[in-house]
Amino acid sequence: MRYQHILVLTGAGISAESGIPVFRSEDGLWENHRVEDVATPEGFERNPQLVHDFYNQMRQSVKSKQPNAAHLALTKLQREMEQRQGRVTIVTQNIDDLHEKAQSHDVIHMHGELNSILCSHCGKSYEWHEDCDGTTECKFCGHKTMRPDIVWFGEIPYHMDAIERAIMQCDLFIAIGTSGVVYPAAGFVSYCSRQGKPCLEFNLTPSANSGVFTHSYLGKAGTTIPAFVDYFLEHDALPDPSAL
Ligand code: APR
Repeated sequence: MRYQHILVLTGAGISAESGIPVFRSEDGLWENHRVEDVATPEGFERNPQLVHDFYNQMRQSVKSKQPNAAHLALTKLQREMEQRQGRVTIVTQNIDDLHEKAQSHDVIHMHGELNSILCSHCGKSYEWHEDCDGTTECKFCGHKTMRPDIVWFGEIPYHMDAIERAIMQCDLFIAIGTSGVVYPAAGFVSYCSRQGKPCLEFNLTPSANSGVFTHSYLGKAGTTIPAFVDYFLEHDALPDPSAL
């Protein structure tokens, strides 16, 4: 097999066809909110109830969302690679659980998860599927200091050690549905490309860092990813971008 370890970075675009809105739209608003109000520690300090309501609503709404053909194709890629003694690590910036619903494993949520809450007092986090607000007690320390377990702007992403290892070890890097403007994720491609690894971009339109990728596959992920996976598994090679 030409490639043994594939690192896949996913962003909001992979879940768009499942009905979950992407972050960056033309009006700069995210579900009618300013990002500073709902995705920064300062916003949470200013108005915790607004932020709780925002993520509570999203947590409930994502419950009914299903993985699309792109998520499912990644699961197929992961299974087939493992049968051939290879490996696929999925690093996602998404806070939804669609990779898990698609039965993928080895999924690293670098920006946190909707189905988890974090105690600002004791620092512990745990799985959570209900609404959360200023009255929710931490199951560990009992303080009413719970917040969404989401990495907001100005905070350090999770699992960076494991991600760094995957960046060093992979021999193929694939980014799917991410705009390439939020760091550190937007910088992963540069590390991989400096090491001479093929770097593949899948997006509707070229992302902000498109020039660093060696291959750019444009189109809806729900169409391009299954086509890519089938070609890749059959030919043990990368398809020409015009072929998908
Ligand atoms: N198929 C492929 N790509 C798509 C599709 C689709 N069906 N729909 C949208 N896209 C692409 C868009 O062209 C865009 O480049 O997905 C990308 C989504 O970009 P963003 O909304 O910026 O999402 P993302 O890159 O994941 O954001 C990164 O920013 O707001 C923070 O923490 C948040 O994790 C998030 C991070």
